[in-house]
Amino acid sequence: MRALPCLLLFLAACSSSSPPTKRAFPETFLWGSATSSFQTEGNITNDDWAVWETLPGAIEGGDKMGRADDHYTYFDDDLAKAQAMGHNAYRFSIEWARIEPEQGKFDDAEIAHYRAVLASCKAHGLKPVVTLEHFSLPVWALNPKAGATSLGGWTNHAVADEFVAYVQKVAGSFVDDVDFWITLNEPMPQLSSGYFTGEWPPGKNLAFVQGIAAFKNMVDAHARAYDAIHSIYAAAGKPVTVTIASHYAAMDPQTPGADDAAAMNLDYLLNLVFLEAVVKGDLDTNLEGAIEHHPEYEHKLDVLGVNYYRRLLIQSMNIGPIKGLPNDDASAMYHGDNGWGVYPDGMTRALHALWDKYALPIVITENGMADATDHLRPYYLVTHLQKVQEAIAAGIDIRGYLHWSLMDNFELASGFKYRFGLMAVDYASPTLTRTPRRSAEAYTAIIKAGGVTPAITKEYGASPQ
Ligand code: BGC
Repeated sequence: MRALPCLLLFLAACSSSSPPTKRAFPETFLWGSATSSFQTEGNITNDDWAVWETLPGAIEGGDKMGRADDHYTYFDDDLAKAQAMGHNAYRFSIEWARIEPEQGKFDDAEIAHYRAVLASCKAHGLKPVVTLEHFSLPVWALNPKAGATSLGGWTNHAVADEFVAYVQKVAGSFVDDVDFWITLNEPMPQLSSGYFTGEWPPGKNLAFVQGIAAFKNMVDAHARAYDAIHSIYAAAGKPVTVTIASHYAAMDPQTPGADDAAAMNLDYLLNLVFLEAVVKGDLDTNLEGAIEHHPEYEHKLDVLGVNYYRRLLIQSMNIGPIKGLPNDDASAMYHGDNGWGVYPDGMTRALHALWDKYALPIVITENGMADATDHLRPYYLVTHLQKVQEAIAAGIDIRGYLHWSLMDNFELASGFKYRFGLMAVDYASPTLTRTPRRSAEAYTAIIKAGGVTPAITKEYGASPQ
């Protein structure tokens, strides 16, 4: 059954006893996958992670990004594979350190590289969804090595100014090629891992004053980048969509009652506080509810980009503004290789909560799991997309789903330990061979059927043993 051609699956889906009367997902729906530059491209030597990975204990197992997936070389083959899997969209990020290796100096050869990636997207029928900052900064903006000279990262407002200048350069270069931009990927996890817990660069441990400054600077950077992109596109007479990829985890108390306030606090800090600033203009100046209204930050998302992976169980804690400690959901029936609980209902909760609160069209910019053997991912995909389908049927305006990830990649501080790919990457092979997993086939079947059908659920969505 594994090798069953997609056409047969499609026919099976059409002939099943209760097929959807119409396509459950809109015809214009974006179906695709997502990657980020420093996790896949390889051979980036001048961003903060390239320094971070040299610091003792920074990356599990001492792994180094190295050539990663060498997506920088193989992007065209990778996009051909995405097309063959039926995708019509591809989310990737531009590496700021490549475009601007020295402060104020832009590299035309790297702009030409990304122009080639965009041409490849076009040639393969993939709408590009382009992220401008996915967790990595040029080393001149942030050098995590103790005592090194740099602007110091998001704690410094000058980095927001620099980001806007970089965005102007990139958006101005690609106004004919891109109409969907994501300024920042998951600003709150980026802040919490980098500036509060210190697991990511710059590695500041619970430095609240700097962390709060970094939060405000990222809000400011997004809002000004949003305006800059819109004025470039308005001048060119072209439409554009600008958003962030916002983290959303379903948050529940570890012990109901005792930890309710803690769960609400982390829901606010990790899921909502950034959105409150860039949708409503309500900036929380101490992350504890001291709100200042900033009209210049209001309505700075055209759609809502949502990254949903899992549920977290929150325990009470009291460190500065942070009142909750997130734990993996040990009670989940299934877990990824990294311990994340599989919780499809969280997709429903995310979509309803965000729609009810902000009423913006939603694009799911990431969703996926670490599963090297792929015994769970088909089930994960089917069950999560089933929830998306139900949310669409309930009237929520959802316009796309981008699975994390197209292929295995360098998983941040965990190095190469976890595998999130629809395609497996053989890191021992000279050309880093990519092999589509069964989950890729499940996804293709869903795309072709225009939704999750009973036949697809039967074939791929049964509870794993
Ligand atoms: C990030 C990705 C990361 C994935 C899995 C997401 O929150 O945006 O960069 O690889 O989680 O950890």
